[in-house]
Amino acid sequence: MNQNYIIPNEWSIIERGFHRENVTASESIFSIGNGSIGQRANFEEKYSGETFQGSYIGGIYYPDKTRVGWWKNGYPEYFAKVLNAPNWIGIYVKINGIELDLNSCKVSDFERELNMKDGVLIRSFVAELKGGSKVKVRATRFLSLDINEVGVIKYSVSPINFSGEIEFTPYIDAGIVNEDSNYDGFFWKILQIEEGKHEAYILSKTYKTEFHVCTGMKVELTLNEFEIELDKETEINEKSISFKYKTNVNQGDTFTMYKYGTYTQSMNHKKEELIFASEKVLQKASIIGFKELIKKQKNAWAKIWKTADIVINGDIKAQQAIRFNIFQLNQTYSGEDSRLNIGPKGFTGEKYGGSTYWDTEAFCIPFYMSTKDKHVAKNLLLYRYNQLNKAIENAEKLGFKNGAALYPMVTMNGEECHNEWEITFEEIHRNGSMLYAIYNYVNYTGDFNYVVEFGMEVMIAISRFWEQRSTFSKAREKYVILGVTGPNEYENNVNNNWYTNYLAKWCLEYTLENLDVIKNKYPEDHRRIVAKTNLNKMELVKWKEVTKLMYFPYSEEYQVYLQQDGFLDKELITVDKLSKSDRPINQKWSWDRILRSPYIKQADVLQGIYFFENEFDTNTIKNHFDFYEPLTVHESSLSPCVHSIIASKINKIEKAYEMYLRTSRLDLDDYNNEVHEGLHITSMAGTWLSIVQGFGGMRNFDNILSFDPQIPKQWKSYSFKINYRGSTLKVFKDHKGCKFTNENTKPVEILIQGKKVTVNPDELVEL
Ligand code: BGC
Repeated sequence: MNQNYIIPNEWSIIERGFHRENVTASESIFSIGNGSIGQRANFEEKYSGETFQGSYIGGIYYPDKTRVGWWKNGYPEYFAKVLNAPNWIGIYVKINGIELDLNSCKVSDFERELNMKDGVLIRSFVAELKGGSKVKVRATRFLSLDINEVGVIKYSVSPINFSGEIEFTPYIDAGIVNEDSNYDGFFWKILQIEEGKHEAYILSKTYKTEFHVCTGMKVELTLNEFEIELDKETEINEKSISFKYKTNVNQGDTFTMYKYGTYTQSMNHKKEELIFASEKVLQKASIIGFKELIKKQKNAWAKIWKTADIVINGDIKAQQAIRFNIFQLNQTYSGEDSRLNIGPKGFTGEKYGGSTYWDTEAFCIPFYMSTKDKHVAKNLLLYRYNQLNKAIENAEKLGFKNGAALYPMVTMNGEECHNEWEITFEEIHRNGSMLYAIYNYVNYTGDFNYVVEFGMEVMIAISRFWEQRSTFSKAREKYVILGVTGPNEYENNVNNNWYTNYLAKWCLEYTLENLDVIKNKYPEDHRRIVAKTNLNKMELVKWKEVTKLMYFPYSEEYQVYLQQDGFLDKELITVDKLSKSDRPINQKWSWDRILRSPYIKQADVLQGIYFFENEFDTNTIKNHFDFYEPLTVHESSLSPCVHSIIASKINKIEKAYEMYLRTSRLDLDDYNNEVHEGLHITSMAGTWLSIVQGFGGMRNFDNILSFDPQIPKQWKSYSFKINYRGSTLKVFKDHKGCKFTNENTKPVEILIQGKKVTVNPDELVEL
């Protein structure tokens, strides 16, 4: 059964009642982040029950040893881990000498709220400790969007039925480990521990990668809102520092600790200035103060919501879910730093190493491109451009030559760093999504300069890879691509994965086409690019030949492209014939059984049809959907969104809605029974796509934006906004029709259900 304890609410994620079995799931769901740092929703006070502690700093990783049994040439040297960072959120609390620990006391009135409108996490409860003393506790926490190195906690305790002593022990603990470390390694070296008046700092560095981080805390105390000064008792251990503050309080009083926490790190400051930087930023935060910081936090979120919000009327669970997805995407990536990216788990867990996958290019870019300024999507493209040399080295390690690039399937710094070979590494299709993202960006923004300045170098290197990776088959008189894994990871080491072959061909064509444009319109840049990449004419001839002779497996019988050679040898028993006890097959079946089954983990042929929809007629799309959907188990979070979009396209709105629910509430309802590991951040962009491209029917072919809005019967209406070339278009749809308005200053020409219309600023276009 899916989990069902999150209370439906338009703007908040709410949990009521304390249930130990939900703690790790809630720690994921209620995670907070500001694009630079993030934390699971761990309790501030001690918790002796099952918990998964996690605080993360964008860009900081450790190259863990891989766990490959027989290491072979070409395997990656390490598996990058986003590190659990020193903990600054902790505050031990004692009431009359007894430790407050929700695992060992009676808890009532427990409520946790993630207020997505304001970007604030609030937790309150009543605890009855041994001996009968009852306290009311309220903790408010947020990571500031304004000062992105800082987070703030307001932690209040009020005695309900007694007067007595309350003790707060705020601490920094740098003795933390990763849950997911291959050999139980300790990844941090402590360099220095510093104590100030009511502040403390721990300077540490990561082993091997030598990222330096200063973790700092500064505390202030109030009694009934009035600042008080208490003496502290300091304890410094090898890896931690804590301050103890005690005071006597009367029944009904409120004793509060404000704890400001920070990470300053060597990607942004000089190593030797980190403690000073922490001191400065904490001082700045405490001068501004909790109240003002929270106001700024609300304003910063209001700015984000102004364009990013999607309003759904008549279905509160769908409303909550889409806001949750949009909120988490914004908590993970703000778009201002081209060295950062969007890990599949964001700042909410350790799985996938926290690194960058093809998810960014294939799923996330459209979301950030449409809801933020265009420089944000450009930063994501630049992330890969800046790693081009590493991608060329990656390809060289595998025997490719002449500047061919293979972008990694998993990376932190441009090097390949995954933990498995057959599945992940052979997914060379990711190389195509790098190019597809450039195409998507240029199509949407009209910024062709990007191709001239940066993109073409990437495109040439990727095209070289595809040409060298294709083999001419004499038997078929065609080019084939052998030994790959497609997006469907339940088939490994297959020949002629249709999606990969199609993408390879398209990449070569797109590169050739753009090279021509640059040659004609930007001859000087053309010369520069040719000289820089050593491009020669014979290469272009070869690329053309590969595009003309690429092989695509096809079934005349079913009139569909086949996922790969030999797909029809499988026993095509559809998913509905599987018993419930077999699902999910990746938790119930051996890998051997999965590989020989016909079941598809995630959209594969359909992923290609989704990308290149304009190259297929509706009948062909429908045929492929009808053939592949019944065989798809959607055991990747990236799958239902693609199916939802295609289902909308072919007018299967019920199916589209079913798939939409699955993607949008994947974590809130824990469909795959794994939310405790962290959230599926990248697939949240897929949820956004399911509304905007799915129900909204937004497409961007032929240099014009088009829409064909539909609405599921479960909703009364919905609306979304997108930034497009200087206009901010709002699309509203209900069961009567649809309305378009432009909230910016630039008019925009679009197609609505095939009709060309201009939407002028402040003008309503109604259909
Ligand atoms: C999916 C991949 C994806 C990865 C990270 C896997 O389960 O099959 O396509 O890149 O998760 O999200």
